[in-house]
Amino acid sequence: MAKTAKAPPDVAKLTKAQARVEHLRLALELEGHDKRYYQDDAPSITDAEYDALRRRYGAIERRFPELVTAESPSQKIGAAPSGRFRKVRHAVPMLSLDNAFAEQDVIDFVGRISRFLKLGDGKIDFSAEPKIDGLSMSLRYEGGELVTAATRGDGAEGEDVTANIRTLHDVPQRLKGRNLPDVCEVRGEVYMTKQAFLALNKKQVEAGEAPFANPRNSAAGSLRQKDPAITASRPLGFFAYAWGEMSAMPEATQSGMIGWFERCGFKTNPLTRLCHSVEQLIAFHRKIEQQRAELDYDIDGVVYKVDRIDWQERLGFVSRTPRWAVAHKFPAERATTILRDIEIQVGRTGSFTPVGKLEPVGVGGVIVQNVTLHNEDYIKGVGGDGEQLREGRDIRIGDTVVIQRAGDVIPQVVDVIIDKRPKSAKPFHFPKKCPCPLRTDVVREETAAGEEGSRARCSGEFACPFQKIEHLKLFVSRRAFDIDGLGEKQLQYFFDEGWVKEPADIFTLQKRNAKLKLEEIEGYGETSVRNLFAAIAERRRISLERFIYALGMRHVGETTALALARGYGSWKAFHDAALKVAAGDEEAIAEMDALDQIGDTVIRSVGAYFGESHNRGIVERLTRELDEIIDAEKPKRNSAVSGKTVVFSGALERMTRDEAKAGAERLGAKAASSVSKKTDYLIAGPGAGSKLADAKKHGVTVLTEDEWLKLIGE
Ligand code: IVH
Repeated sequence: MAKTAKAPPDVAKLTKAQARVEHLRLALELEGHDKRYYQDDAPSITDAEYDALRRRYGAIERRFPELVTAESPSQKIGAAPSGRFRKVRHAVPMLSLDNAFAEQDVIDFVGRISRFLKLGDGKIDFSAEPKIDGLSMSLRYEGGELVTAATRGDGAEGEDVTANIRTLHDVPQRLKGRNLPDVCEVRGEVYMTKQAFLALNKKQVEAGEAPFANPRNSAAGSLRQKDPAITASRPLGFFAYAWGEMSAMPEATQSGMIGWFERCGFKTNPLTRLCHSVEQLIAFHRKIEQQRAELDYDIDGVVYKVDRIDWQERLGFVSRTPRWAVAHKFPAERATTILRDIEIQVGRTGSFTPVGKLEPVGVGGVIVQNVTLHNEDYIKGVGGDGEQLREGRDIRIGDTVVIQRAGDVIPQVVDVIIDKRPKSAKPFHFPKKCPCPLRTDVVREETAAGEEGSRARCSGEFACPFQKIEHLKLFVSRRAFDIDGLGEKQLQYFFDEGWVKEPADIFTLQKRNAKLKLEEIEGYGETSVRNLFAAIAERRRISLERFIYALGMRHVGETTALALARGYGSWKAFHDAALKVAAGDEEAIAEMDALDQIGDTVIRSVGAYFGESHNRGIVERLTRELDEIIDAEKPKRNSAVSGKTVVFSGALERMTRDEAKAGAERLGAKAASSVSKKTDYLIAGPGAGSKLADAKKHGVTVLTEDEWLKLIGE
């Protein structure tokens, strides 16, 4: 979200006390952004905004070096790996690049290098390359064979995504050529083309899933799949541009290495050029910026690297970045246009998103017609923490607005030009009633903490037609009932015709087809109707966790649904409990509360859902149509560790931490994330760190991974 709150005071004018406070606040903010970007693939600010925060953070540290600690985000790269995949320690750390924004920064960069190498007027050659906005990958080849592929992670340790990377066409399983060094680590960028990204997002939305914000996130999301078949179905490319451990160097220059990568069977970026002066570097930047919009992949700048590798080695690194390379970023892409209207979109849970309808305008080669305006406060010029946005300027219909696309495909309104505001400009009045025919009252959405949030929602739940259709879309989506041949388009059609009004209706379609005659609908035909009915019939047996997820209760996503399914084991047990919770039965509430990962928000939501007779009817009619809701594996009560609280820390060798936790939970143990006096066992691998000390303090039994496996009998 673009926050143009009051400009912060000049760093040069900060007192030390002010600097300390801001330094701490920025550190927390940057850590949060790093986590959202690297682990969740869901950044909440644009790259340009992130860079601005980092710049200010760096400026404060330069003025007050005593504030720098080993924990400072400036000393780390990205965030720790997310724990879903086995970890891989990089033989050579994967580092980051320093940024240059202005031409003067580039001149300074070259000057610094020249002074460091004591070259006088001597010339330095640079390899100039586009900076691909994807995610970096390290590919390790031993004896010419691909053995591991790892993400960058925090730079020291990444995630093992070998199985997924093997599905990429651009990554050779075996290096071509002779006399290959025994160990070669080839590094580069995995990316998704813009075209593939748009097609994938269309599919995501059709399947009722959240669209990705940009190609980078969709590439990351596609790669971090537990199932390589999903990665294989997503078109990902790879450009090689760097290396990690090499048992021998086949070439003496960066440009030579690029040629070598090609001979080994890799793609390298075709726009890469050798430059011999600062002027040529800057000309390269301009030329690539002009071509940016036409490229079918996102780039966010260019990278200059000292070409001679012996010089790179002499120049070395300053904390997290090499002295011999810099990323010369592009400014964010902006455009000015007129806001014609504001429409309200109603989501599955009834939440309203105001969407700005723009006079179409080109921003960085993409025609933009819609912008999200987030919520009522955002339009008024108030941010999530009550801070001012756009210096408090509100957004009115008829206003001239500045929109920005910074790497992201979804644009933002960064400013309103008040001087151009026409007399006829209309302030937007947020609706008090849902735009659905029921005209239900609008309430403020609750935040996860149970407070009133800034978003408005319709109070009609499934009685609201907008929510009905959104719920149906969720119901048939891949992670719920996953009904082949019943995509969003067909569903909308059936809904508009009044043939499918609620989930149970899907299962009675075949019975009613003598009258409906689906095969007569254009584009359908007998075979597809037969296939559709077969796909529906197959889903009359469904796992409990999918079933609970498919009910569409607010705050009950896939993970929560799984936790509820595991907690109760059977549909009957869950259903009985949910009805009691809805009736305010304290014992049932306490029992739900005791389940792992379930808290107040979910309990309130389950209660609200089953408290509505309308919803109970939907559920009852649906369960009547099903053959079986398959029980979930309930945690064992009589294992060696049932009822115990365990914590896993450090690196595990035989399984990922998530697997270990899930295994412990299946055996009836509670897997916690920090050690306290309630902890029974700490299972500590190498690098367990502070948790070991905590365990000692609280007298907690410490086990090795093997001892743990023995204890649980594996
Ligand atoms: S060189 C020691 N070259 O940018 C630095 N990086 O901000 C090695 N990137 O983590 C990186 N295109 O993910 C290099 N042509 C290029 C690049 C590139 C994109 C990414 C890479 C890196 C990040 C640094």
